[in-house]
Amino acid sequence: MKRVYNFSAGPSMLPEPVLRRAAEEMLDYQGSGQSVMEMSHRSKIYEGIIQSAECLLREVMNIPENYKVLFLQGGASSQFAMVPLNLMNKSKKADFVLTGQWATKAYKEAARYGEANVVASSKDKTFSYIPKLDPASFTKDADYFHICMNNTIYGTLFHELPKTGSVPLVADISSCVLSQPIDVSKFGLLFAGAQKNMGPAGLTVVIIREDLIGHAMDITPTMFNYQTHADSDSMFNTPPCYAIYVCGLVLDWLKNTVGGLDEMEKINRKKAGMLYDFLDNSKLFHGTVVKEDRSLMNIPFVTGDEAMDKKFVAAATEHDFVNLKGHRSVGGMRASIYNAMPVEGVEKLVDFMRKFEKENA
Ligand SMILES: Cc1ncc(COP(=O)(O)O)c(C=O)c1O
Repeated sequence: MKRVYNFSAGPSMLPEPVLRRAAEEMLDYQGSGQSVMEMSHRSKIYEGIIQSAECLLREVMNIPENYKVLFLQGGASSQFAMVPLNLMNKSKKADFVLTGQWATKAYKEAARYGEANVVASSKDKTFSYIPKLDPASFTKDADYFHICMNNTIYGTLFHELPKTGSVPLVADISSCVLSQPIDVSKFGLLFAGAQKNMGPAGLTVVIIREDLIGHAMDITPTMFNYQTHADSDSMFNTPPCYAIYVCGLVLDWLKNTVGGLDEMEKINRKKAGMLYDFLDNSKLFHGTVVKEDRSLMNIPFVTGDEAMDKKFVAAATEHDFVNLKGHRSVGGMRASIYNAMPVEGVEKLVDFMRKFEKENA
């Protein structure tokens, strides 16, 4: 059997013990004689699976009781519409920090439903930093304030949250969810596509403060109303059953094998630190993001020479370090090192880069 080191931005690596357990349980889930893919979502046995996934998520992320957890479909991209449809209900205004493509997409979608304001942007330098924010420039009566916490394409992370006072902070945490502890109580709403740190594609997790539910615009489609899903415990229609099951396995691994988010953060800091240290001292490669805003999950880097970048990606692929090609808007390379990437994978990548540098500098 062959397993490569997969540096994909998503869908991405899953922890090997999770894949093994899913394989073991594939044909006969705990003596039921069925695969989780085959069972009714209304069955007692599936009820246990979805409830256990929610309990584990609440425990691992320390989610306060006055927040609902929703297991939805439609990807993080659907949330770009769902958030304004449900939250733009008083002043019909919302603030946005444009830190990349995903934040910009959220902003453009919200602008279809109300007044979307850009309070800051880092577009001037290809989104290579998180803009400094001045709370005096925030819209006082905004219905919410949107950030993309970790910018998957550009490799930046909000290490400090904007101080929005009573305006609910909404964050797209698709590419940093479960990578380190976060204080959920500081947010009105969090959302994430599962396909990076939570499980397979097809599941979108929303964590929403209860008082923000139940005020959707009249035009909101039933399936886009948070109330619909909150009232039926994510069972209004058929949920993404198998993806929720795998997400539960990932959370079990995080809790019982890794030891929780504090431990996960230590491992993630170690992995990112190794790669950043190498980049900071390399004569061939360099990172593209300002030091203080660097992501722990997505690390873009370049040589400054397109032909050399291409040569590196090809050589790396040949050595089973796959999906290192950078996003077309940044160029070069990007190593996405989510929770499931073992320390050894980053060590080996750095060794390979060192060797490549010696041969090509
Ligand atoms: C931060 C962020 N937000 C949103 C998305 C879009 O997610 P989806 O494909 O689940 O709609 C992505 C996808 O990579 C992402 O990285």
